Amino acid sequence: MHKQRLVIAGSGSTYTMGMMMSLIEEKENFPLKEVVFYDIDEQRQERNAKATEILFKERYPELESFSYTTNKEIAFKDADFVFVQIRTGGLPMREKDEQISLKHGVVGQETCGPGGMAYGLRSIKDMIELVNDIRTYAPHAWILNYTNPAAIVAVALKQEFPDDHRLLNICDMPIAIMISYAKMLNIDVWEIVPEYFGLNHFGWFTKIYDKSGNDHTERLKSRIIDEGFTPEDTEIANDVSWQKTFEQARQMLMDFPEYLPNTYLQYYLYPDQMVEKEDPERTRARQVIEGRQNRVHSLCDGIIEKGTAKDADLHVDIHGVFMVKAAASLAYNLNERFIVITENNGIISNLPEDAMVEVPALLTANGPKPFAIGEIPTFYKGLIEGQYAYEKLVTEAYFENSYQKLVQALTLNRTVISPDKAKAILEDMMEANASYWPELN
Ligand code: NAD
Ligand code: G6P
Ligand code: MN
Repeated sequence: MHKQRLVIAGSGSTYTMGMMMSLIEEKENFPLKEVVFYDIDEQRQERNAKATEILFKERYPELESFSYTTNKEIAFKDADFVFVQIRTGGLPMREKDEQISLKHGVVGQETCGPGGMAYGLRSIKDMIELVNDIRTYAPHAWILNYTNPAAIVAVALKQEFPDDHRLLNICDMPIAIMISYAKMLNIDVWEIVPEYFGLNHFGWFTKIYDKSGNDHTERLKSRIIDEGFTPEDTEIANDVSWQKTFEQARQMLMDFPEYLPNTYLQYYLYPDQMVEKEDPERTRARQVIEGRQNRVHSLCDGIIEKGTAKDADLHVDIHGVFMVKAAASLAYNLNERFIVITENNGIISNLPEDAMVEVPALLTANGPKPFAIGEIPTFYKGLIEGQYAYEKLVTEAYFENSYQKLVQALTLNRTVISPDKAKAILEDMMEANASYWPELN
């Protein structure tokens, strides 16, 4: 079994330590020769790197090399895999995205509505640069990208790199939801065989089977309506914000009982309710800075201070395990089934060919092999077409420096609708993002 040289780009991320635990957990399935950290922020990187060094010495002694660098050539040369998890502008810019949106009375969220647009325009530039850098030094490496907003990033990268078939955008939300289904069904999450369609953070499970072929869909729906829905993955189970988000699945199912919704649909179906429950002084970004980020930082500081990770509160999470299992399926042609983001190309026959859809696919050494879905019903088609038009317009606005396309994008988005609001939001967003966005005409 070929052992992989894996690069983590954006290694200062709050997800890195969970990912390292997942690499350890999955070492038989995705054996590594070398792990390299790459980041542009030396300080953020160093804390995770020093803790990882100690962790790997204790729990991954067979790893030949672990290193960290801010040098692209050193990082990417001869890479087999690059996992990309960057955040242009960091969590402080996320906070601005959320606060500016809320100030105008619309949803303030990382990947949805104006926040998703603002973050998208920041991410596209860095992602294009990063993919170019990776391809300079590692033309054949698999790039597994989960940088958000993954929907917009996927559309932009498809446009910029249409022939790059070793670049896969992927999101952990469907599998995180499936963990909760698995708990309710009392089976292992990897026993679940989902049918699903949509865009990233904008989709529905149409069927939930197990590997023996039993259909659990209706039972799950009734149980969610009767008993509610809770997050179960270790990373989010005790997070009040995620608990509220999962709870909202019940309302969505009562209003639209046909399919099981992705949690992110709450922002598009109930935008006013979402705005009402937010505190502009304490948006999700602030909660993450004071919660997840603080937790990870003190965890790493503790490991470094003690010189051991033995008593550290480290755990495997579904985010990391999912990415590593998907990578193993690509690396070793395992043909395992995962929900990923890929070009539509007729998978959903009544949606545009060029849409980047989120659907189940077998991951092979030759890339994702999605299953045909056929026609989807009018309600979902209508919602998806509006949302896809928004994603496409944001991407076009980036490449064409078009202010007008951003007004169109926000007007189409279910979280905004009013052109006046769209223009007012844009004015504030342009000012806040002056050093990140392309110039707009
Ligand atoms: P974070 O700010 O803690 O970490 C991001 C890291 O990327 C930082 O260390 C930063 O210095 C670095 N970085 C920024 N620009 C860079 C560049 N151009 N090159 C290299 N490094 C760069 O953010 P986080 O909350 O840990 O999230 C990381 C990313 O992963 C975000 O984009 C987040 O939205 C995404 N994410 C996606 C999913 C998904 O389901 N798709 C799940 C979890 C996280
Ligand atoms: C889910 C989504 C990601 C998102 C993450 C964290 O896993 O799929 O795209 O980045 O949640 O969201 P949070 O609001 O907790 O930072
Ligand atoms: Mn996601």
